[in-house]
Amino acid sequence: MGKSSSLVHFSMIFFLIFLHVSPLLVTSTPPPESPFLKCLTSNTSFSNQVSNIVFDQTNASYASILQAYIRNAKFNISTTPKPLIIVTPLNEHHVQGAVVCAKSIGVKLRIRSGGHDYEGTSYVSKEPFIILDMFNMRNVSIDVQNEFAVVQSGATTGELYYNIWKKSKVLGFPAGVCVTLGIGGHLSGGGYGSMMRKFGLSIDHVIDARIVDVNGRILDRKAMGEDLFWAIRGGGGASFGVIVSYTIKLVRIPEIVTTFVVGKTLEQNATELVLQWQEVAPSIDDRLFMRLLLQPSSSAVEKGKTTILANVNALFLGGADELVALLGKEFPLLGLKKENCSEMSWVDSLLSWANFEKGAKPEAMLDRRTNMASFLKRKSDFVEKPISKEGYEGLWKEMIKYDKVGLAFNPYGGKMNEISSDATPFPHRAGNIFKIQYSVTWKEPGIDVDEKFMDQTRKLFKYMTPFVSKNPRRAFLNYRDIDIGINNFGNDSYQQGLVYGVKYFNNNFQRLVKIKSAVDPGNFFSNEQSIPTHSSHKS
Ligand SMILES: Cc1cc2nc3c(=O)[nH]c(=O)nc-3n(C[C@H](O)[C@H](O)[C@H](O)COP(=O)(O)OP(=O)(O)OC[C@H]3O[C@@H](n4cnc5c(N)ncnc54)[C@H](O)[C@@H]3O)c2cc1C
Ligand SMILES: *[C@@H]1O[C@H](CO)[C@@H](O)[C@H](O)[C@H]1NC(C)=O
Ligand SMILES: *[C@@H]1O[C@H](CO)[C@@H](O)[C@H](O)[C@H]1NC(C)=O
Ligand SMILES: *[C@@H]1O[C@H](CO)[C@@H](O)[C@H](O)[C@H]1NC(C)=O
Ligand SMILES: *[C@@H]1O[C@H](CO)[C@@H](O)[C@H](O)[C@H]1NC(C)=O
Ligand SMILES: *[C@@H]1O[C@H](CO)[C@@H](O)[C@H](O)[C@H]1NC(C)=O
Ligand SMILES: *[C@@H]1O[C@H](CO)[C@@H](O)[C@H](O)[C@H]1NC(C)=O
Ligand SMILES: *[C@@H]1O[C@H](CO)[C@@H](O)[C@H](O)[C@H]1NC(C)=O
Repeated sequence: MGKSSSLVHFSMIFFLIFLHVSPLLVTSTPPPESPFLKCLTSNTSFSNQVSNIVFDQTNASYASILQAYIRNAKFNISTTPKPLIIVTPLNEHHVQGAVVCAKSIGVKLRIRSGGHDYEGTSYVSKEPFIILDMFNMRNVSIDVQNEFAVVQSGATTGELYYNIWKKSKVLGFPAGVCVTLGIGGHLSGGGYGSMMRKFGLSIDHVIDARIVDVNGRILDRKAMGEDLFWAIRGGGGASFGVIVSYTIKLVRIPEIVTTFVVGKTLEQNATELVLQWQEVAPSIDDRLFMRLLLQPSSSAVEKGKTTILANVNALFLGGADELVALLGKEFPLLGLKKENCSEMSWVDSLLSWANFEKGAKPEAMLDRRTNMASFLKRKSDFVEKPISKEGYEGLWKEMIKYDKVGLAFNPYGGKMNEISSDATPFPHRAGNIFKIQYSVTWKEPGIDVDEKFMDQTRKLFKYMTPFVSKNPRRAFLNYRDIDIGINNFGNDSYQQGLVYGVKYFNNNFQRLVKIKSAVDPGNFFSNEQSIPTHSSHKS
């Protein structure tokens, strides 16, 4: 015992010395093999591949591998802490080896699938760390007969959608609107998209999974047990282990669906439209999802003046005639005409929602669009009762004042009301009429620019306080927001975890802590907002 721990200590020092050197100081002689690499080589059955999957800071490809899946440019600057090593596993054995070896040398692991985390938790850490980058593990296999799929965590939503479409025109899957989301982060955090009112979230359709736990074991649903399987459907993967794949049940979709985007400005009575939207969108036929996008926009009526544009962006799992009749009756202020509608296949609706150009082919969803990022900040809220007209009028004033922050309202209801709030860790079910996303995206770097837009978003968030959920004011894990609390895993780590934990998970937080304490008592799998253990519970 004593011997092995001092060995570990020794190798850790070695490791840190050799990997902290700046590339500028490296001489032409190659660095000696690191303890991590040695451990990995001896612990995986495909040791001959190991030299192809480990990128240290001196490697010429290190920067491009790191940047490939950065999706928030805020974390692509020189002061952003960088990983000691990036490991890009090709198979489950490599994942097992990376976990065992990172743990044995006492270095943190950050797990990255698609890199879309708004706060960069998959690739940034203040402590010395290694990135386990899953992009090579992206097989998608579809079983049309039995209507399910096995999808590895490094696949994107686009790759999943494409592979389903290749095999069947009447099967689909409810997941995100963006087609470059990683399955690992997206599904472990919930996963919602334009079919959520009909089918619920992605996690409501997960039937099995494979995970590498803190001891390097590979577990499927049966081996991990129902507690851990529950946790990784909405509780975030990063607290529990490395999710290698999910098995998902596919859903039946019609061959023709209908989309539209119809907008009105304040001059065109957008306020009345929004008031009617919030009554109709959460209660109408669950085949219809109408997202409301609110943004400041220059007025066409009065030059130099800013107005609010309210766009209704819809997906209907049916034909245009039926949709126009339905909305004529229930949402007359929209004034929807058949000319405003487009009938198309489900796969084309995905392309359209993801803002591809008209005529884009499904193959476009295979483009991972790597190394592309703007600066961004997102926040979330849940709305439980209709907001008053005065509330909206005040909101417009605030939005016009800040001029850059937009809001997206995603209607709930339908299937979301039918699933109990503890069926998965995701607690925001019946009782919510819509979710708000606060969104600001900018191009220019600079701390003062960052501060300006962050500040505007926070002020708008403050304005909304009386209109949204309280005690706790809840938030959506996939819309990661470190403003709501962070953990530094000191003495009061449980208390710190409680602060953001109840916002993301409400009454499900305690069960997550219990599961975390059982499967990873040493808290190896952690980040700024991971689930703390019980043992850190000090009063
Ligand atoms: C442009 C954009 C559009 C979006 N649209 C939607 C949307 O329509 N619907 C929606 O629900 N969300 C949406 N999101 C949010 C998105 O779902 C989350 O950011 C999600 O976590 C992304 O998953 P990822 O694998 O790409 O992210 P990553 O940054 O790779 O990971 C996110 C978190 O999950 C952990 N993780 C990743 N892979 C694994 C794994 N294999 N095992 C264990 N833990 C893992 C990471 O460590 C990190 O903590 C959007 C985000 C962006 C940037
Ligand atoms: C495999 O990993 C363990 C850490 O759990 C390490 O102690 C051991 O040395 C490694 N195996 C070999 C043969 O190096
Ligand atoms: C960089 O790392 C990769 C993957 O391990 C390896 O194949 C390659 O030879 C390395 N390149 C250099 C110049 O060290
Ligand atoms: C992915 O699928 C291919 C073809 O079925 C297979 O050869 C390969 O081993 C799979 N890769 C992984 C990582 O499972
Ligand atoms: C909807 O169709 C009507 C009638 O063709 C047209 O006047 C209106 O501009 C369209 N609205 C949008 C948002 O396209
Ligand atoms: C807005 O509403 C007012 C009052 O109901 C109405 O008189 C006016 O015609 C509407 N304007 C538009 C552009 O629909
Ligand atoms: C990150 O910064 C580098 C320049 O340092 C740039 O080439 C790259 O495109 C950026 N990537 C992203 C994702 O912003
Ligand atoms: C943690 O608790 C111990 C004992 O109660 C105390 O000595 C120490 O200062 C605390 N550390 C921090 C970071 O609060």
